[in-house]
Amino acid sequence: MTILSIETSCDETAVAVTRNGREVLSDEIISQVDIHALYGGVVPELASRNHAAHIGRLADAAIERACITKQDVEAVAVTYAPGLIGALLVGVNFAKGLAMALGVPLIPVHHIRGHIAANYIAFPELEPPFLCAIVSGGNSIIADVRGYTEVSIIGRTRDDAAGECFDKAARVMGLGYPGGSALDKIAQAGDETRYSLPRPVIEGFPYDMSFSGLKTSVVNIMHNAGQKGEDVDTASLAASLSAAVSDVIVPRVMMAAEVFGHSKIAIAGGVAANSRIRADILKAAEAGGYTLYIPPLRLCGDNASMIGCQGYYEYLAGNIAGMDLNAYASMGADVSFCRI
Ligand code: KG4
Repeated sequence: MTILSIETSCDETAVAVTRNGREVLSDEIISQVDIHALYGGVVPELASRNHAAHIGRLADAAIERACITKQDVEAVAVTYAPGLIGALLVGVNFAKGLAMALGVPLIPVHHIRGHIAANYIAFPELEPPFLCAIVSGGNSIIADVRGYTEVSIIGRTRDDAAGECFDKAARVMGLGYPGGSALDKIAQAGDETRYSLPRPVIEGFPYDMSFSGLKTSVVNIMHNAGQKGEDVDTASLAASLSAAVSDVIVPRVMMAAEVFGHSKIAIAGGVAANSRIRADILKAAEAGGYTLYIPPLRLCGDNASMIGCQGYYEYLAGNIAGMDLNAYASMGADVSFCRI
């Protein structure tokens, strides 16, 4: 089955063509990062306007790159939740128009389920059940993936996402936006014991996480030093933060894998690119005898091929939308598609 898929939940406009879920025929993306970098964060209105400006020609490019014609498209899949509402609406409305014009089914895809599906593309042998940690700029979630469309959320952040914590810390350290990757690079030369940062625990919720206190600690260290005219060892602060974020995520993932009886662990989302988290989870997985799946960097961030892949499994499960499909800024990944 040939699916054209659309992803516009945040600041990447992406269109892909996939076949039978895991075969990627084309994967087009336009990042708006330079536009939002001017403001130090994503400006929702600008994101929507830029999606609207680019989505049409990106869809044409995806079809051309896949060496197919519009008539070969058998379904249109689109991210409909969660994300920036205006940004999502651009993708959803474009997808509706395309599906109606081509006379093909419209498949609604949850963004988090899409991130999980990035692993199906990267690892053709991977099948549920497995445990998946989705750590990105907008989400930090530990999910029990029992089937392609059976996902239960075991743990989630109570406040900021891990990526937001990295980005805000990087911004105050003068590393630009989004600074997660730059922070990761400078951390390599730092001493992670130089700054003492919190590892928050949420009483009674062993798999839930919190990153806002960590973010505030870094901001306070920078501001206090600035007020006193002292220098900050930014490489060591970056290393201390990376170690703290990893210490929040990795032990919870390992505990969840054990308690929920999984032998396979996957990670997804942009923060899965972090070298400290990768190294820690690799070590823990090896020690515990787990099989670990970490997609390549290009599949960790937002992209449309992961939406096409998950869209295929949603289609097989009968999750088809009508022309009344709406977009939702928030929605649990464990909620199966229903018309609301
Ligand atoms: O999945 P993604 O592309 O977009 C969202 O859905 O949010 O993730 C982007 C996030 C940003 O916060 C970015 O700073 C972070 O992933 N990121 C990293 C690294 N590379 C990207 N964070 C820490 N270390 C990295 N190497």
